Amino acid sequence: MSRVVLDQVSKTYPASGKTAGAPAVRGVSLAVEDGEFMVLVGPSGCGKSTLLRLVAGLETPDAGTVSIGGRVVNTVPPKDRDIAMVFQNYALYPHLTVFENLAFGLMLRKLPRAEIETRVRAAAAQLDLAGVLDRLPKALSGGQRQRVAVGRAIVRQPQVFLFDEPLSNLDAKLRATTRAELIRLHQRLQATMLYVTHDQVEAMTMGDRICVLHDGSVQQVAPPLELYNSPANLFVAGFIGSPPMNFFPGTLEKTGDALRLTFAAANPAAAGMVSQSNHPPVSFTLPSGALRLSDLQTFRPSDKKSVILGLRPEHLFDARTLGSAAAEKPLPVLETQVEFAEPMGAETHLHLRHGAATLVARVPPGQAYVPGQPFPAALDLAHAHLFDAATGLAMIRFPAAASS
Ligand SMILES: Nc1ncnc2c1ncn2[C@@H]1O[C@H](COP(=O)(O)OP(=O)(O)OP(=O)(O)O)[C@@H](O)[C@H]1O
Ligand SMILES: [Mg+2]
Repeated sequence: MSRVVLDQVSKTYPASGKTAGAPAVRGVSLAVEDGEFMVLVGPSGCGKSTLLRLVAGLETPDAGTVSIGGRVVNTVPPKDRDIAMVFQNYALYPHLTVFENLAFGLMLRKLPRAEIETRVRAAAAQLDLAGVLDRLPKALSGGQRQRVAVGRAIVRQPQVFLFDEPLSNLDAKLRATTRAELIRLHQRLQATMLYVTHDQVEAMTMGDRICVLHDGSVQQVAPPLELYNSPANLFVAGFIGSPPMNFFPGTLEKTGDALRLTFAAANPAAAGMVSQSNHPPVSFTLPSGALRLSDLQTFRPSDKKSVILGLRPEHLFDARTLGSAAAEKPLPVLETQVEFAEPMGAETHLHLRHGAATLVARVPPGQAYVPGQPFPAALDLAHAHLFDAATGLAMIRFPAAASS
């Protein structure tokens, strides 16, 4: 039983010099289930490492409790928490061989020699290090060093593994293969793992669930696809997904039962786009069957609300290619211009401009695009997200977005 539970945990580092200390972690509550792979993700400085260090016991919370396996460990020193931590800088002992690096922690704990030997050999076999046990770290590749660091955690057979950006020193290809190895390792060990990264691809591919942090606070905790399909707020919507979600600020009105959204005319002066003035406001009726959230329940016909519509790049199409299906169920079309195209191989990321606004469409490969050429972007509003401009919270979610 190695559930990790944080309950209303806060941490402010002591102020240094003239600067008042801002909270690094603000009232975080999070339960990591036994055997779960939980990823903590967020931009630099959002408190990921601090949260991990609080679980490890390297920092003490100012408020709240940290529990491991049902026991509150706020005052338990790190060595007695039955956790193992892997850092970005592998921190291997340069003068010890791989075998000795792996065995070091066990020797400190005075385990019998035979037991140490067994555990080290088993970990080395799991991590494909059996052939390099006699080498010094300097004679290893970056990926091998990283695996030794993971191996040092494995041999301790801890209740909980803590990883702080363990792959960020590796090049892109090695990062992808090591990522796959860690996923397999977790499947084999079925251990509770708390994994910090600022890389949303790592978060999406590795996590059973992902906890998105921003400015020391939890934004949303959910399985990867739920985060992608139903972000709880603007921050999560913009952070998860690459290229990121397109945002259209506008005004929401109710006419009868229908919700109508009007985008303010883009401001050409702001972007210095003199030739593209006179963008009239664009108005759309939102599809019916929207799942209503929060204050939309009390939205009255005369109300107007500032909102932000979010649409992922895969939900913008070239209106000219939609064919006869479009005639039956026409999608709203935004008249945009091509800025530039990024051919990715399997798809192309098309950067578009609408007045001062820029947006990205994920389109099929194989077509040449000329900067400045018109591109009628059909908006698949069945997959749109809507956020309250004042609070950033998701207001409405369409069934299609929730299920696909
Ligand atoms: N020892 C410290 N003393 C004072 N402030 C600190 C200390 N460690 C971190 N901080 C501050 O606390 C905040 C959270 O830092 P933390 O290292 O947890 O962020 P992070 O999410 O891990 O960022 P990164 O992705 O850059 O590693 C930051 O504002 C940071 O400057
Ligand atoms: Mg960090």
